[in-house]
Amino acid sequence: MSKLALLGGDPVRTKLWPPWPDGREQDASAVQEVVASGQWWHHGGSQVAQFEQEFAEYHGAAHAVATSSGTTALATALLALGLEAGEEVVVPAYTFQATATAVLLARGIPVFADVQADTLNLDAEAAARSITPRTRAIIPVHFAGLPADLERLLPVAATQGALVLEDACQAHGAVYRGRKVGAIGAAGGFSFQASKNLCAGEGGAVLTDDPEVAARAQAIRDCGRVPGQTCDDSHILGYNFRMTEMQGALLRSRLPLLEAETELRWRHGRWLTEKLASLPGLTPLDPSPRPADRRAYHLYAMRYRSESLGGLPRDRFMQALAAEGVPCRPGYEAPLYRDPAFRQGSFRAADSPAAEELCREVVWLFHSLLLGGDEDVADIVRACDKVVGCHRDLL
Ligand SMILES: Cc1ncc(COP(=O)(O)O)c(C=O)c1O
Repeated sequence: MSKLALLGGDPVRTKLWPPWPDGREQDASAVQEVVASGQWWHHGGSQVAQFEQEFAEYHGAAHAVATSSGTTALATALLALGLEAGEEVVVPAYTFQATATAVLLARGIPVFADVQADTLNLDAEAAARSITPRTRAIIPVHFAGLPADLERLLPVAATQGALVLEDACQAHGAVYRGRKVGAIGAAGGFSFQASKNLCAGEGGAVLTDDPEVAARAQAIRDCGRVPGQTCDDSHILGYNFRMTEMQGALLRSRLPLLEAETELRWRHGRWLTEKLASLPGLTPLDPSPRPADRRAYHLYAMRYRSESLGGLPRDRFMQALAAEGVPCRPGYEAPLYRDPAFRQGSFRAADSPAAEELCREVVWLFHSLLLGGDEDVADIVRACDKVVGCHRDLL
């Protein structure tokens, strides 16, 4: 095998990866039209309202309510579902911090529970151990675009009359047992921040089938304005969590791409798993799909087992992979309950050995690496194969 690029050899790949976001001319024109129209917020324009309708339809949900971010979408959903101040919400210990800060924003108390070691998703047994009569909701995250085990989590929530709010911020277009995620629990929250599989720089949305939850969410994100009433008639405590018309137009321009891009990531992601599964030291966090599932692959995540590669540290492995032309990231440094922001509060956190271990072992690849041709994905396999094959040179 040829010399590792990190040690002066030729890299497997020097070609650039598909850019993300990949702004196109029609995206620019869509925004430009709104700019020229002078209708920049959704009370004057129609882009946000039309996007809400199209996004709800795409996910098979009755209602979508657009917001300023994924964080505000989750907080709006919790408030619209009736979360009272001081009630508890079970969240995974391994997730982006916003899953938990959204709970705080909605005046609730996050309770951290462990994830499954082979999926990074909330573990139903851990959630069952964390739920109490004070629990109003459980937030499973469809982490990295892999649908969470809702068939087991929904009954866990029901034991205490709690609701399930899906955090689908990484899972646009993912399918769980034939249904798009985000529209299966009582509500779902999405993010359109720049890295996301559907993006507008920033933005978010709540999905729900319940018209009353949708109406409350509309008021909460719009300074308490009840749709159809004037500002003075507003009776709901609300905030400015609104999306701009420019974001609405950009999202409308990009939504028609989502299906084909999701299919491409799905095909490439599964192929990658098939090829990487036989390499020592790497375990794709990509279990066989349940029937009628489709993963969104916002991230391609794998576990790096240093003990299988002579103790080569994960950082050194990632440096070598990056030098071969495959950029990668280590994921979260620590479970959320060890984040200084959460350590200051007295939050309940059950032991989360899986989350602790995953923080030490996970390696992420960004979804745009799956958006090229078959040869591009083959480069990922060649690079992993080369670094694994030559790992002794790095010891
Ligand atoms: C799992 C998860 N939840 C919530 C969020 C929050 O979304 P935003 O950054 O749009 O507020 C993100 C993304 O950033 C996320 O990945």
